[in-house]
Amino acid sequence: MTQNTEIHVPQKEVIERILSMELVRVTERAAVSAARLRGRGDEKAADQAAVDAMRRELNKLPIDGTIVIGEGERDEAPMLFIGEKVGNGTGPKVDIAVDPLEGTTLCAKDMPGAIAVMAMAQAGSLLYAPDVYMDKIAIGPGYKKGIVDLDASPEDNIHALAKAKGVKPHEINALIMDRPRHADLIAAVRKTGASIRLITDGDVAGVIFTAMQQETGIDIYLGIGGAPEGVLAAAALRCVGGQMQGRLILDTPAKIERARGMGVKDPKRKYDMAELAADDVIVSATGVTDGALMHGVRLKNDVIETETIVYRSITGTVRRIHGEHRELAKFLLD
Ligand code: FBP
Repeated sequence: MTQNTEIHVPQKEVIERILSMELVRVTERAAVSAARLRGRGDEKAADQAAVDAMRRELNKLPIDGTIVIGEGERDEAPMLFIGEKVGNGTGPKVDIAVDPLEGTTLCAKDMPGAIAVMAMAQAGSLLYAPDVYMDKIAIGPGYKKGIVDLDASPEDNIHALAKAKGVKPHEINALIMDRPRHADLIAAVRKTGASIRLITDGDVAGVIFTAMQQETGIDIYLGIGGAPEGVLAAAALRCVGGQMQGRLILDTPAKIERARGMGVKDPKRKYDMAELAADDVIVSATGVTDGALMHGVRLKNDVIETETIVYRSITGTVRRIHGEHRELAKFLLD
């Protein structure tokens, strides 16, 4: 008797598996459009090109999608605004978080680290975050839950992490955005002896770096960056393991009101990774400029090459996809 070794895959899963490849197309096209404007010093034009391409591709997908993290609120963002419906409306109800060009300045200056990134999850699974700042802390996989905490001092976090890793604090490498608001944080981390890599932009990748410690050398991400970027980073980190916490910075009555309108009841709440991005999440990120996560778009004579990473939380699968686009090259580069 032959044994039936086929694994039963539920219909919902089949759809989502197929969709993960579709998401690759979406970020690829956004990245290619932005890459054509690399180094032109025009952040707005590069961002707009990425937004247009991403929206066009999203609307081809068999999903009933709602943008929950997007280009901003409806009155300030004509496209991919929070609440906008995307997809052709035929498939599953999903939440979509997008950053068509994460690192607009990096792209405009042709500096490393610009990416096109999006996440998709079942409706209601991603935090509806307004476009404010978020205080964040993240570490990679392999540590006991709770060894670092957003409410602990930077010194305590570095010491706790060093102890858990079995190294001295001076062997810990932190990643922090290079901003005046981080002067005290940087001083406190340096006091422990830990080293700091400062980045000018791109903290979605900055958080993901903690989950690739062997490659990046980064043990911990600390500091304040965009809240939308925080949700996207949490979605990716959930797929590869690690820990992250974030707290929205709602420092004016207007921001508290806006957040309340989006369902944030407690303006001081500390969210953990699974509250920022719950359930089965798929994340796709394509390089625009070269970076530590992936290489940027290569615009050759007859072919456009892309590199994309797709993450899926339910299986912890990470795929690197090298794309060669010939028709697109004919169409765009002729
Ligand atoms: P943009 O692509 O929107 O320019 O964002 C880049 C970025 O560096 C993010 O990665 C980060 O979360 C945020 O800006 C930080 O904001 P600010 O530049 O105001 O400090």
